[in-house]
Amino acid sequence: RIVYVLNGPNLNLLGKRQPAIYGYETLADVEVDCRRVAQELNLEIAFHQSNAEYQIIDWIHEARERAGGIVINPAAFTHTSVAILDALNTCEFPIIEVHISNVHKREAFRHHSYVSCVASGVIAGFGTQGYPLALQRLARLIDQSQN
Ligand code: DQA
Repeated sequence: RIVYVLNGPNLNLLGKRQPAIYGYETLADVEVDCRRVAQELNLEIAFHQSNAEYQIIDWIHEARERAGGIVINPAAFTHTSVAILDALNTCEFPIIEVHISNVHKREAFRHHSYVSCVASGVIAGFGTQGYPLALQRLARLIDQSQN
């Protein structure tokens, strides 16, 4: 049971980037949290971040061949990328969308997501805690689809 945890642009700067909004935890800390929870859930994790849209799309293509689900924080591409939506639409497994901040409390352009319409669920505003929560939900959805 492999799941991909994909992170979009600028999330490599997590912890340093606008900490009032995104907090002080780094992406490496998030990865540690995800790996801990994944172990408990009996999931294997592929954890990636890129600032390049094509790279995220390539990982989605990789995931559709070998994974059972995706947790994705597309970051700014959430609000711009039909290409990421199209890639996710080729996947037949559950997808959970995560945002660290509560995008609905922020600028209007962050209120629309191209990705939400393919997501089984969306987590926003739970800080970096959203990632392990998303993995818990994904594990449940994968279990259910196997029954
Ligand atoms: C984000 C929210 C997006 O609007 C923003 O562009 C990001 C991060 C979040 O995790 O809160 O880069 O996806």
